[in-house]
Amino acid sequence: MRGTLSLLKSPPNKTGNGQEESTLLLEECRVWTKRGLVSASILIRDGRIASISRHIPKDAHETLRATGLVAFPGMIDAHVHLRDLDLSYKEDFTSGTAAAAAGGFTTVLDMPNTVPPTDSTKRLNEKIEKAHTKILTNVGFHVAAVPDSTQISRMSTLGAYSLKLYLPKPISPLDIQNEKTVLTLLQSSKRSDLRVTVHAEDPCLIRRPDSEEIISFTELSRMRPEEAEVRAVNRVLSLAAKTGCNLHLSHLTLPSSIVAARKYRHATTEVTPHHVLLSEKEIKRKEWKAWMVPPLRSESVRKDLLAMMSKGLVTIVASDHAPHTVQEKSETVAESPPGIPGLETTLPLMLTLVVRRVLSMSLLTQLLSSNPARVFNLPRKGRLDKGFDADIVLVDLKHKSRIRPERFHSKAKYSPFENMHVQGQVRTTIVGGIVVFQDGEIVGKPGSGRIMKRGALG
Ligand code: DOR
Ligand code: ZN
Repeated sequence: MRGTLSLLKSPPNKTGNGQEESTLLLEECRVWTKRGLVSASILIRDGRIASISRHIPKDAHETLRATGLVAFPGMIDAHVHLRDLDLSYKEDFTSGTAAAAAGGFTTVLDMPNTVPPTDSTKRLNEKIEKAHTKILTNVGFHVAAVPDSTQISRMSTLGAYSLKLYLPKPISPLDIQNEKTVLTLLQSSKRSDLRVTVHAEDPCLIRRPDSEEIISFTELSRMRPEEAEVRAVNRVLSLAAKTGCNLHLSHLTLPSSIVAARKYRHATTEVTPHHVLLSEKEIKRKEWKAWMVPPLRSESVRKDLLAMMSKGLVTIVASDHAPHTVQEKSETVAESPPGIPGLETTLPLMLTLVVRRVLSMSLLTQLLSSNPARVFNLPRKGRLDKGFDADIVLVDLKHKSRIRPERFHSKAKYSPFENMHVQGQVRTTIVGGIVVFQDGEIVGKPGSGRIMKRGALG
């Protein structure tokens, strides 16, 4: 079998300052570097990449033979709902980061729409405190957009990655219809040098069903028309232009949104695998499994969005991993919560696009690793190079399989991609030099991931 982990060869050495030094050698893989794919081994020392070379002495404490596998920089998912706290029945920090590791993600950024929401330094501290012993991958936090600029500045200092502005329904009380309120918020974000991440759908153009209304999932999805995104994107872009703040537009579904965002120098854009690979016609067959917001669009819009991503016109790909229980989702259409798990399908789906030559390998690593690292300020991540963090995913590009949601590590064991054929399998995920996922199993211990704080070197 390709890539097997051997046992410790020798005990870790003591360094001059008495600390233990440990080394891991990834032997004989093909490594994705800034020069493209090179045949080499990777030596990891104390959680960092010590060297990438063909000639590394074979005296590491641990050796992983990775013949036939490709080493990529660990993937970074900037849009994940890890839930936990009062919603831990949907997903908790361990199950969510296990899903991340199984999907080749070494760092995820968690969304603040939890119960309670992440909308103050107190709440952010509580989340950090709860998460740090439970996580298998690195985790950073987005926080909710709030009206209080002092609170924004404090959350920024504490290491929040962005302010999430959820236009359809604010996470924390905020008069989002009021232009002045939104403008003030964007000004505060600029002052605190904190990016604003926007869910762009205008609530005035969304219809919400009554709880007893008898409708289909297709009708439910159509209650959130394209026009709601068009309007929200244009509004937030024109307000942002008055302030010069950094803006990140989440899960865009329309090519016109990407075109509009590209005209504003400080905007970055995100698409999800489901919006580029699935269209409205899937909803009829997959019902609640294909219900998320923004909803799936028409086949022609989907194709154009995929073409834009493949041409490099989009900044990042994120999963918008949004787990709910099967019962919640399937009981009644009108009250079904939107959202699907995505951490364990995103990389295999994107690798399949590479194998089918829809996407280049270089673009895949930009969209899923180096660009999220740059946009959200994650130093020493997003690249395999000497001195960078040893966040690495080993992939078997030849392996063909089907998406099997019952095998997910996430608590949400369903997917609109169920049974879809994919090529490219995550074999090993290494976080800060620690092997956390290997051949279908979580082998790391909760707490082996790090809490990430923006601005801190870690
Ligand atoms: O489908 C979605 N689910 N879209 C969102 O914006 C929120 C998310 C969730 O938290 O469940
Ligand atoms: Zn989301």
